[in-house]
Amino acid sequence: MKLVTALFFALSIVAEAKAQDLYQPVRVDNTTLWVNSIVGKNGVSTVECWGIQPPFVVSSQARTVGNKILQLGQLSNASYSVFPDGHPTDAGLHNAPNAQWVVLLSGSGNINFPDSPSTPNLTVKAPELLIAVDTPGTSRIGHRSVWEAGTSVIQMPLAPGFVPGHKTINGACPPVAPNH
Ligand SMILES: *[C@@H]1O[C@H](CO)[C@@H](O)[C@H](O)[C@H]1NC(C)=O
Ligand SMILES: *[C@@H]1O[C@H](CO)[C@@H](O)[C@H](O)[C@H]1NC(C)=O
Ligand SMILES: *[C@@H]1O[C@H](CO)[C@@H](O)[C@H](O)[C@H]1NC(C)=O
Repeated sequence: MKLVTALFFALSIVAEAKAQDLYQPVRVDNTTLWVNSIVGKNGVSTVECWGIQPPFVVSSQARTVGNKILQLGQLSNASYSVFPDGHPTDAGLHNAPNAQWVVLLSGSGNINFPDSPSTPNLTVKAPELLIAVDTPGTSRIGHRSVWEAGTSVIQMPLAPGFVPGHKTINGACPPVAPNH
């Protein structure tokens, strides 16, 4: 009985350590920006958690001393959009029009992956940076987004052919991922 109990505890500790190992880099690494990335893999849209590289550097410039700064990479242009007030906007199924950064300034969105039943809906909530790279050709039907009334976003398409360097965790970023 005692042996069984001890064995049970030993196994629980091992299991707990494994679970912590899995998420620890996200929790403790203050140099990495982790963002949800909507990717097209094998023709299907799904989510990965990207740790953008190169990581944050600490500024030594006068007036911003101590700021953490991360380069978002090469961009093409940018647009600002505001979804209508009063009702959610169902943007329907679509591919990312361009590989792009999306900066969620206010509001929230529910992103659904009908072609990937194993990918849970992704909730994004301002303030949040995310990436969408499931462009036509990488994903057959893309993803479906439903935006909360009044949500505002900045979309910043990447320069043609540019994808930010990144470390990858499969699936959405864990909720504890610090966005800094
Ligand atoms: C990370 O935290 C350490 C210890 O607090 C600090 O010295 C370092 O400057 C931080 N790095 C960044 C990029 O914020
Ligand atoms: C913005 O950049 C993307 C990617 O290079 C391009 O496809 C799009 O036409 C550009 N939009 C405008 C309004 O210039
Ligand atoms: C996922 O999103 C779809 C489309 O917006 C919605 O119909 C469905 O109820 C959502 N599922 C869950 C579990 O929230």
